[in-house]
Amino acid sequence: MRTKGHPATRIDVLFEAEKIAARNLELAVEIAAGDTENLLVVPVLKGSFVFAADLLRALHHAGLAPEVDFFSLSSYGAGTKSSGDVKILRDVETDVADLNVLLIDDILESGRTLAFAKDLLVARKAKSVKTCVLLDKPDKRVVDLQADYVGFECPDLFVVGYGIDMAHSFRELPFVGVVHTDDD
Ligand code: IMP
Ligand code: MG
Repeated sequence: MRTKGHPATRIDVLFEAEKIAARNLELAVEIAAGDTENLLVVPVLKGSFVFAADLLRALHHAGLAPEVDFFSLSSYGAGTKSSGDVKILRDVETDVADLNVLLIDDILESGRTLAFAKDLLVARKAKSVKTCVLLDKPDKRVVDLQADYVGFECPDLFVVGYGIDMAHSFRELPFVGVVHTDDD
């Protein structure tokens, strides 16, 4: 499709909105089957905000009533390559000691972002730290981390939409797609 406001780009849909919505319901059922006592859900902003909002409501449908807090972490800056250096832009305020924490992120790529967040919460004595990602790009992993819950395995392409950005654009798209500029 051609996107209003982004006339020089074409976006090919990779995961459509309906498919994501159906998968969210399944993920919530998988999550609800684990230890969900004193559950704190922690979306890693910004990229996960749309996924996390939908997954949170799916968790309600699966019978859960988690608390929610937020990390804002950055490893990409405005570029399209990970810098490898994770920065905390906003820390979790909740005392995570003895809580079951579920970290939610948009994409697991090198694994550096989630490994950093997980290690930090483990050091703060969380009872458990599990990870849920919408997309897993296993080809680019540099640290040894598998997500506990994965929406979809994603090919090694730069994707946008459903909260995921390219230089701060395209978060508003209701699906996940691949960007092509007019010269490719
Ligand atoms: P990593 O696992 O530490 O390499 O970082 C994963 C993060 O990189 C994700 O949460 C996104 O913010 C970003 N990222 C990875 N792949 C893409 C992509 O295809 N589009 C947009 N952001 C991406
Ligand atoms: Mg991210």
